[in-house]
Amino acid sequence: MTQQPVTKKQDQPQPLKRVLSGQAATPAPFWLMRQAGRYLPEYRALRERAGGFLDLCFNPEWAAEVTLQPLRRFDMDAAILFSDILVIPHALGQKLWFAPGEGPRLELLGDTQAFSGLGYDAFDEKLSPVYETVRRVRAELPAHKSLIGFAGAPWTVACYMIEGRGGGVFQAAQDFAKQNPDDFQNLMDILVAATARYLTAQVKAGADVLQIFDSWAGLLPPEEFERWVIAPTKALMDILRRDCPATPVIGFPRGVGEACGKYAAATGVNGMGLGQEISITRAREICGDAICLQGNLAPELLLQGGVQMEEAVMDILDEAAGKPFIFNLGHGIIKETPPEHVARLAAIIRGHKP
Ligand code: CP3
Repeated sequence: MTQQPVTKKQDQPQPLKRVLSGQAATPAPFWLMRQAGRYLPEYRALRERAGGFLDLCFNPEWAAEVTLQPLRRFDMDAAILFSDILVIPHALGQKLWFAPGEGPRLELLGDTQAFSGLGYDAFDEKLSPVYETVRRVRAELPAHKSLIGFAGAPWTVACYMIEGRGGGVFQAAQDFAKQNPDDFQNLMDILVAATARYLTAQVKAGADVLQIFDSWAGLLPPEEFERWVIAPTKALMDILRRDCPATPVIGFPRGVGEACGKYAAATGVNGMGLGQEISITRAREICGDAICLQGNLAPELLLQGGVQMEEAVMDILDEAAGKPFIFNLGHGIIKETPPEHVARLAAIIRGHKP
């Protein structure tokens, strides 16, 4: 009698990695950007106990708990590390704080903006709690759930570093890049190296998949897009392919519309994160059948819920069926979103039959 192999839960492949390797899956795996956060009462409770936002990010016990909170409710296919894209400038020595109710603030780098004060003296020490969070989450997650590590892309992180805050269209950062392209290139080079070091360490600690957030890629006209989004992301990808070749990477250049094709082809990411500005059908035409697409329900529809949300979700799932795809939002969850809407969304995704 031939022995049937016993499939233990540990041996089950991760659905997220499966689609990122180019295979289609039904139902589509899903996770949601900002799935850990203020729309969850259990997050708000822990956030209050922690005091500051960075105190939460740098406490591995609390950060691991917050990372896992959404999966306890909604059974997503992946957890995303709880941290922030701005821990990179913080670790390079730029002062960072979160003013209550105002979002991030960074100390301006000085008149010359020569970035000479940035360095690695405290880099690994400052980020080591994040790696400990990754280890703890990976140890607690079931084997078939993926842990997504992440960083901001050089362009988006540089926007905050130069502007000192978010809120607008980063005019100071755009002007600086135009007027001082050599200095700006220098900053890109620093950020490529620092981000590669940070992401590689996340993979060593147990991250299964990486996402690169380029939230402000859509601000740039075509030539600048190539220079400040595509080129540094490609440079980052080259290092990641060398140092962690088995780890799939999702790129998310938000708001670039039809330029997703150029981004996907030039950077070689495994997953193409889409904002809500483009349909799945159109993105598929542009990017080809091989790449895994991710997205792209408008967060406003999840906030609103009801029939309109349900129809939009079904449309996305129908358009995406038969090709590698990860269901997600087109941007992060809005903090007023009722958790019941997320539960409804999860049920629709799991029940979808093409
Ligand atoms: O659940 C997850 O997605 C994981 C954690 C995560 C956070 N920020 C936690 C966070 C991730 C992946 C990020 C990425 C991030 N951070 C981006 C890229 C994605 C995007 O939203 O475009 C950016 C631009 C940042 C920078 C940042 N951090 C801003 C602009 C803000 C303030 C805006 C806001 O929503 O308050 C933050 C703070 C932040 N990062 C919060 C969370 C949960 C809220 C802080 C709080 O609890 O007070």
